[in-house]
Amino acid sequence: MEPNDINLEKGELAENDIVSQKRLRHFLDIEYLSQPLLLDILDLAESFAGVSGQPVKKVPLLRGKTIVNLFFEASTRTRTTFELAAKRLSADFLNINVDFSATKKGETLLDTLRNLEAMHCDMFIVRHPLSGAAEFISKNVSQNISVINAGDGRHAHPTQAMLDIFTIRKYFKDFKKIKVAIVGDILHSRVARSLIHALRILEVPDIRVIGPKTLLPSGIERMGATPYVDMDEGIKNCNVVIMLRLQNERMDSSFIPDENEYYNLYGFTPRRQELLAKNGIIMHPGPVNRGVEISSEVADGDRSVILQQVSNGIAVRMAILSLSMQPQQDNK
Ligand code: CP
Repeated sequence: MEPNDINLEKGELAENDIVSQKRLRHFLDIEYLSQPLLLDILDLAESFAGVSGQPVKKVPLLRGKTIVNLFFEASTRTRTTFELAAKRLSADFLNINVDFSATKKGETLLDTLRNLEAMHCDMFIVRHPLSGAAEFISKNVSQNISVINAGDGRHAHPTQAMLDIFTIRKYFKDFKKIKVAIVGDILHSRVARSLIHALRILEVPDIRVIGPKTLLPSGIERMGATPYVDMDEGIKNCNVVIMLRLQNERMDSSFIPDENEYYNLYGFTPRRQELLAKNGIIMHPGPVNRGVEISSEVADGDRSVILQQVSNGIAVRMAILSLSMQPQQDNK
């Protein structure tokens, strides 16, 4: 690792890291970020937000670099916003379609990585159904390659958490004064885990998780979140509510009686919207399951910022990509 590198692996992140002087090598998790670094990333993302509105939506920062999307699990938002972010930074970009790659012919993940390295790629953006996959890959690539975690199992989705807090900051400047609730399938949610870490780092004083007992992880209080089983009680006076879908692909048995009952108890309906603080906003990382965890009236209503989250994902990912790679001129 170069002297100025920040490696976001456990214990390697010093306090007071200043983004302008440093680079991230890997972006695997959020819990080891310091508050100043996290805020610096948000500020950098702010400076990139204007690029998407320009007639020519491009800056030359990563010209000559090659970034690879390596997605072993379905994605719409993360995959495409990473691709747009990379292209807006002028990087060359490859989408590896795992269903049509040689992994289907028995090639191991490590052999696939070796082959991509032989093509002089600079960065892998990894989504994988297994927790720890991105970290495993980061430990098995050569020194000059960066790895970004785009969601691993139920463990972490750090860039989603970054875009979520970027969106929250658009509405609430002072994180120390807000109440935030995360509702739904917390147990299987990498989004919830990363977001709770981010909110804690930002010193949000009231973080709530709401759901049926079967979908609330035991010991969630140790992460700094207060559990609620009653949704009406949990969302009362909250400034931000983040709805999560039921992650059926990670359930090996039935965790709820049925979807109708679940909607009655935990669905975000127009009636429940009235329980929020007056300035309350509603978020959802997507994909949205209308009529299961949220009604169409709420998802499409004026308090919903769901599509703003998607747009913000581009600027936030531009910030993370640019910090994770030295610009071309540094290598001359
Ligand atoms: N929020 C999110 O990760 O969505 P995708 O699965 O579509 O990437």
